[in-house]
Order: sequence, then C-alpha cells, then structure tokens
Amino acid sequence: MNLVSLRLRRFRNIDALDQEFGPARHVIYGPNAYGKTSVLEAIHLLALGRSHRTTRDTEVIQYGAGGAYVCGRFQDENQAVSEIEIAITPAGKRLRINHTVVPRLSALLGKVLLVILTPDDLKLVRGAPSHRRRWLDAAISTLDVTYLKRLQEYQHVLKQRNVVLRGRHLGGFDPKLLEVLDQSIVPAGTDVVLARYDFLREFDRHFRSIYASLCANVETADVFYASRVADGPSLKENYERRFEASRAEDFRYATTSFGPHRDDLRLRINGEDAHRFASQGQARTLAIALRLAQMAMIRRRVRRMPIILVDDLPSALDANRASNLLRLLPADGQVFITSTERRYAEEFVGEATYWKLENGKLTLRS
Ligand SMILES: Nc1ncnc2c1ncn2[C@@H]1O[C@H](COP(=O)(O)OP(=O)(O)OP(=O)(O)O)[C@@H](O)[C@H]1O
Ligand SMILES: [Mg+2]
Repeated sequence: MNLVSLRLRRFRNIDALDQEFGPARHVIYGPNAYGKTSVLEAIHLLALGRSHRTTRDTEVIQYGAGGAYVCGRFQDENQAVSEIEIAITPAGKRLRINHTVVPRLSALLGKVLLVILTPDDLKLVRGAPSHRRRWLDAAISTLDVTYLKRLQEYQHVLKQRNVVLRGRHLGGFDPKLLEVLDQSIVPAGTDVVLARYDFLREFDRHFRSIYASLCANVETADVFYASRVADGPSLKENYERRFEASRAEDFRYATTSFGPHRDDLRLRINGEDAHRFASQGQARTLAIALRLAQMAMIRRRVRRMPIILVDDLPSALDANRASNLLRLLPADGQVFITSTERRYAEEFVGEATYWKLENGKLTLRS
C-alpha cells in the first residue's frame, strides 16, 4: 500500500499542500514547528480516521479557519487506487471514499494499513495501562474486525452495568437488569481476554527478536498480558469464577472491578519491570519494538505491507540503535521519516527522497 498523493487545506499550520509521492522512502526535514508532524498526522488521519496526537478532531483546524480538509490517494498491491477524503468542521468529521460519502469511519478499518512510530509512544511504556490497552485493542482490531465488534459490545454492556451498580447507592437498583447484563458481559469479556492472549502470544515472539536486533543483543525484552485471569484451557471457567468472586467488591465500589478493562500489557527488560526501571533510551527502544512488532504481525497475518511513519528520527536513540532501527524498516515498503536535520537523516537513512518543508510547502531536494 502506498500513498500516491496528499492534499491538505487549512490543516494545522499548513494552509495548502498538494504533493505526489513515489513508493519507497521519504525524508521530510525542516526546523521545529514547520509542520513535519502535522504532515504525518494528516496521513494517519486518512488511514485510520483519527489523529495520532489528539482525540479532539477540531484541534487540527487551522486557527481562525472554518474547517480542515485532507485528501489522499492510496494505491494497493493490485495497483487499484482509492481516494480518501476527510473534512473536519466544528459540526463533525465527514468521510468520503472514492467520492461517496461514507457515514461510518469504521469503513476505513483495514483499508490502508499504517504503523506510526512517534516520540509520544513513550506513553506506551511510561503511561497508564489505558494507553497500552488502547494500543493493543487498535492493533488487534486492524487484523480482526470481529474483535472490534466484540470489544465494543463489552464496553457497551460495561457502561450499562456500571450505571446499574451506581443505582444501588442512589436507591434505584434493578437486580433483574444486572442479571441480564451479567449474562452478556461474561462471554464478551472472556472473548476479549482470549483474543488478547492469543494475539500477544505470537506478538511477543516478534517483539523479542526485534528488540534484540535494535540493541544488538545486549539486552532481552519481552511483553506479556497481565490479567487477573490466567491463560489456558480453563480460562472460560476461571473468568466466570473471578467475575462472581468480585461481585461484593463491585457492589462496594459501584463499578465493575474485574474484566479486560482492568488488564494491562507489561514490558520487561532482562526480566525486570521496564515501566519503572527503563532508561529513556530503553523506553524509546521498547516503544519502537512494539510498533515494529505490530508491523511484523500485519505482514504475517494480512500479507500486506503497511505504510510506515517515523516521526522525529531518532529522538533519544544512540547512533547504534538508530541505524538498527533503519535496518529493520522494510526495504520494499513506503516509509515517511521526519527529522529536524537533513544531515542527520542522511547519515542514517541514506538513499531516500528528501523533502524540505518550508512555509507549508514541500520542496524536492536531491
Ligand atoms: N490548529 C492549528 N492551527 C495553526 N497552527 C497550528 C495548529 N496546531 C498546531 N499549530 C502549529 O503548527 C506548527 C507545526 O507543528 P508541528 O508539530 O507539525 O511541527 P514540527 O515540524 O513537527 O515541529 P518539531 O520539529 O518541533 O516536532 C507549530 O507551530 C504549532 O504550534
Ligand atoms: Mg514534530
């Protein structure tokens, strides 16, 4: 999958940009605040229907403008081209695919595969479990639409169940409704946990080997799913038992205390908890390994090459790790890399198309 052209209108600091891109590697360089991340953000928005920086869509609208518009033409492995357009106004986000209005953003799911590496990924290591759950859910969803459906069902029932539980404190408790909800939350929750275990089992193998390559085998790292219900053939029964056992706690705190919404993804370096002990560079390496393992999973399961975005090379990586990262990026896929220094990028990326970003315009610099 390749991005063949990109069009931006009043998107962050970029007033108007129209650019065509070839396959392979692109380096976008320019000083701080020139809009490099914004260009990647626009590509991310087109591929996945949302920004990687914000959950508030309207933030991307240029100050003082009424709306932002992005359009990208993507070419797949069979040379078929799809045009994706997203218009964002204070009234909402509108998606068109091949000139037809598409009411649901989920129509984009799995169409353009994309993996982004950004300095913000440090949150996956140092941030709250919710960051890791969100990333994990998105990573599984791109590969498995039924997972997303099941997860949404779970989240929907969870919300309702918590409302019912709060009713117990507020005097409007409905035990019948709770019973009904419990009958659907348990199987949905079990499915979510099963799918996460299943995904991470294979994922961990990629992750370990990628981490080892990034640090030239001087450290080992692994990732595992941390849940109050253990993996194994009796997961279903155990889930049910755990769920029942936490009922008293649920009543006390008026919220659902057990389930995949409380689980976490844990990272270790040399067997030690990385969330607490990793250095800045190790944390960044872990985050990169998570993203590259995600890319490896896509390649294995869907047999397609995602577009790769690398924001701000190398940020906190030493020279060895930075060049190992570049080596791990696919030679046969489209990659967009941003950097503040052209010379720095040249040293690590080598052959690529170099674009200078200035005044909201990309200029080809050979
Ligand atoms: N909605 C907006 N309208 C106009 N300008 C904005 C908007 N949102 C952000 N900006 C500005 O756009 C500029 C470009 O931001 P961006 O993060 O893309 O820069 P960058 O080139 O990636 O910088 P860095 O090298 O520091 O990462 C910044 O000055 C930022 O404050
Ligand atoms: Mg930036």
